[in-house]
Amino acid sequence: MAGYVKTGIDGLDAMLNGGIPEGNQVIVEGGPGSGKTLISFEFLYRNALNGATGIFFSFDEEPDRVIRNAKAAFYELDRIDEMIESGKMLVYPDPYYTTSGTQYELGKLLSAIESKIEESNAKCVVIDSLAMLALMAPEPAHFRKAIVEIITSLRKRGVISFFTEEMKSPERDRLEFSPEHFVFDGIITMYQTGEDFKRMPAIEIIKMRGTSHSMITTPYEITPSGFKITAAENIANYD
Ligand SMILES: Nc1ncnc2c1ncn2[C@@H]1O[C@H](COP(=O)(O)OP(=O)(O)O)[C@@H](O)[C@H]1O
Ligand SMILES: [Mg+2]
Repeated sequence: MAGYVKTGIDGLDAMLNGGIPEGNQVIVEGGPGSGKTLISFEFLYRNALNGATGIFFSFDEEPDRVIRNAKAAFYELDRIDEMIESGKMLVYPDPYYTTSGTQYELGKLLSAIESKIEESNAKCVVIDSLAMLALMAPEPAHFRKAIVEIITSLRKRGVISFFTEEMKSPERDRLEFSPEHFVFDGIITMYQTGEDFKRMPAIEIIKMRGTSHSMITTPYEITPSGFKITAAENIANYD
């Protein structure tokens, strides 16, 4: 039986009833600035502290900026440099385009991602973002096939991956699903709800194969020591 991998994120493992089942491929979606990049970074950091190597593939921002922003937001997490210098956390740019400089081919890009995972023996992977991969596919059918292929291969390795995805609306009642939502094992959604000038970030686990998870939309905060997800009372006993 496959085990669970803790995200290490305060409140999230309780919502997941322990953690993410090994081999699960997860979409982390939200509006701009909801914290998709930061929560994914923290997931790798927490696991790196426990000895599991993680790779962050950053398509939208330069790796140095990702690290700089994470260190600025999480200035109380004082082992980020150590994890990066020791190779426990790898932050890469697009592994295909930057090395070849040729035209995009999604298949080749996905193979390049797999080689990096294999070479580093990573257990946790972040692809930031899925939206960027979708833009590289010549047509939706091609994209879906390519996605199914990569997530099948990552599952077989027992790797847990977070694929970030942009949501057009940050409101819960305007949630829409696209075909790729059905092929992933998990969906974690970050909303920015509220009225007028008040905005309340909240997180929901829409789907997580292999675990009974919280169904409650739960407020979160991005703090210098990481995300704080304030679990509702009725799920507190999951710890
Ligand atoms: N130094 C900081 N202190 C507190 N919050 C920060 C800091 N830096 C970024 N944030 C919060 O994180 C958000 C950006 O997170 P990010 O993960 O880059 O978002 P996304 O990837 O969803 O677009 C900002 O909108 C802000 O709310
Ligand atoms: Mg981002």
